[in-house]
Amino acid sequence: MKKVIIDCDPGHDDAIALLLASRADNIKILGVTTVAGNSEVYNTTRNARKVLDYADVFDVPVYRGCEKPLMRNLYRLTGAIIHGEDGLGGPSIPDPVTPIEKEHAVDYIIRTLKESDEKITLIPTGPLTNIAMALTKAPEIKAKIDKIIIMGGAIMDAGNITSAAEFNMYVDPEAAKIVFASGCNIYLNTLDVSMKAVFYEEDIERLRLQGDKVSVIVAQLLDFFADTHVKHFNFRACPVHDALCVGILIDESIIEYQKTFVDISVNDPLTMGETVADLWGITGNEPNCHISVKVDREKFVNMIINHMRKPYIKK
Ligand code: RIB
Ligand code: CA
Repeated sequence: MKKVIIDCDPGHDDAIALLLASRADNIKILGVTTVAGNSEVYNTTRNARKVLDYADVFDVPVYRGCEKPLMRNLYRLTGAIIHGEDGLGGPSIPDPVTPIEKEHAVDYIIRTLKESDEKITLIPTGPLTNIAMALTKAPEIKAKIDKIIIMGGAIMDAGNITSAAEFNMYVDPEAAKIVFASGCNIYLNTLDVSMKAVFYEEDIERLRLQGDKVSVIVAQLLDFFADTHVKHFNFRACPVHDALCVGILIDESIIEYQKTFVDISVNDPLTMGETVADLWGITGNEPNCHISVKVDREKFVNMIINHMRKPYIKK
């Protein structure tokens, strides 16, 4: 059983990542922490709670995290456009019934890692603010981190905020710089793979036809997400970026990786948030992460569809 903490900013694809992890036989979600990103942290926290409650996942606690990036104001332009005003536009999901925990997300991450007698995998699918804060406040937690599986960045393909930068890295580049310099075992799933592992209309219809409440609501989330992608990216398909980070824990064969050195641009306004990979080893820096280089779309899509119809079983 892989024990994980998912740090997220729901967000349509974050929501599907939460649902996939909750249905995975080999994953125990110890807790969910939220961060400002796709929407304000009030919204991302409420969205995480209501998606989990909707899917009968009442026993997984949600902890509210940082209100803004480490050094900058929260970038608001695209979040609402892509994910809706409250961060989870589209289907009507009932209000959450389970309370949000009182402990701050950063303190929860530090405490849980320190108290754990085995290593834990962190799965950040939003800006890396909480993770950077935890590693800065308590660097010793690194010894308890098995992997950090990050959604973010773009290496050979273009970014989605500027041509250089992907959203999560753009929102809090300083936090990303701290995490990539931490020495932790990092797996970085970038747009290079997430924009290939997409749901087409027929895949969304397969979900809808399953007819159970979770499959139907995920189809409706993807309907909304696909519409915004068509409108703003002229891209007739729907990426589920964040769920790939959970997917590789279920079946590691869905993504191939290459070890390399990556650093984040923070000082140049033009390239701010760019994930720069030293693909030829010219910087003399040791590799600090595994970057995603290839993805099996069919396996990933089938994994999500097959897991969504499964009932939640407490682990
Ligand atoms: O660029 C894609 C990432 O930004 C995803 O995590 C999505 O949820 C948004 O946060
Ligand atoms: Ca996200």
